[in-house]
Amino acid sequence: MNTSLKNVEFALITGASNGIGMELAGLMARRGHNLILVARRADKLQTVSKALAAEHGVTVHTLALDLSVPGAAQRVYDHCHGLGLSVNILVNNAGFGDYKPVADADAGVYREMLQVNVVTLTELTCLFVKDFKRQGHGRIANIGSTSAYQPCPGMASYGASKGYVMQFTEALHVELQGSGVTATVINPGMTATGFVDRAQMGNSALAIAGMANAKDVAQAAYDALMRGEMNRVVGWVNKLWAQSTMLAGSRHLLVWVSKWRLR
Ligand SMILES: NC(=O)c1ccc[n+]([C@@H]2O[C@H](COP(=O)([O-])OP(=O)(O)OC[C@H]3O[C@@H](n4cnc5c(N)ncnc54)[C@H](OP(=O)(O)O)[C@@H]3O)[C@@H](O)[C@H]2O)c1
Repeated sequence: MNTSLKNVEFALITGASNGIGMELAGLMARRGHNLILVARRADKLQTVSKALAAEHGVTVHTLALDLSVPGAAQRVYDHCHGLGLSVNILVNNAGFGDYKPVADADAGVYREMLQVNVVTLTELTCLFVKDFKRQGHGRIANIGSTSAYQPCPGMASYGASKGYVMQFTEALHVELQGSGVTATVINPGMTATGFVDRAQMGNSALAIAGMANAKDVAQAAYDALMRGEMNRVVGWVNKLWAQSTMLAGSRHLLVWVSKWRLR
């Protein structure tokens, strides 16, 4: 390891070129965290990294990589190790949705989405958690969604992917108790970012009903991460929704209400 990097720790954030991930990067730089930022757009990563390093005096590395490609997680891990960067915080934030019925969807888009939202997130967690346990400390934040709480007609695959993220992270949280390492799932509701355009869901009832801003979501995510909470739903309306899905006596009712919310 490069001796000058001894004892210097980094927070790794995926999907840091835009939206919630970019806001989180700014927030964490302000709090003095050195950063490793990952996303596909090298130019955006460069702009963000230069601004944060100049403004907050932290070290920022970037890695332009498509996380939908099999093996991407290992490449991220090897990149960090290759540079001798010690990671103590992992934020799996990169993700996207696809707002259309399954019968109209492109199976290739689903494959990419599941690879980013589920497979790469799982592999990154599995790779870094071993180091975190060995070093006796570390924090993991996986960005889920309120769509984890019910089946999502119109976004079936995305909702299911976030259901996975929630269950995976909650189970990991319990496995890690007493280890000095924490795992937190953060579940935002609709948030004004690039997500809405990419998922083509600008006309959905949820989007029209109003959106949180990415700065507030990033702040809530950071607080939950640093407190080592198991699950944080962002915003009181979303909390109410998440609670009520657990009280619904019937799966049919739950799916029907969800269809109405997303229509
Ligand atoms: N916005 C919402 O309403 C909402 C609600 C609930 C949960 N979420 C979750 O919040 C997380 C962040 O999304 P956001 O709202 O901030 O959306 P966003 O503005 O579209 O940002 C998504 C980030 O993920 C990166 N990304 C997407 N595909 C990637 C790939 N194949 N490889 C590497 N990076 C990739 C994007 O960077 P590049 O394009 O440069 O690759 C970008 O930095 C996602 O997990 C999303 O599911 C969002």
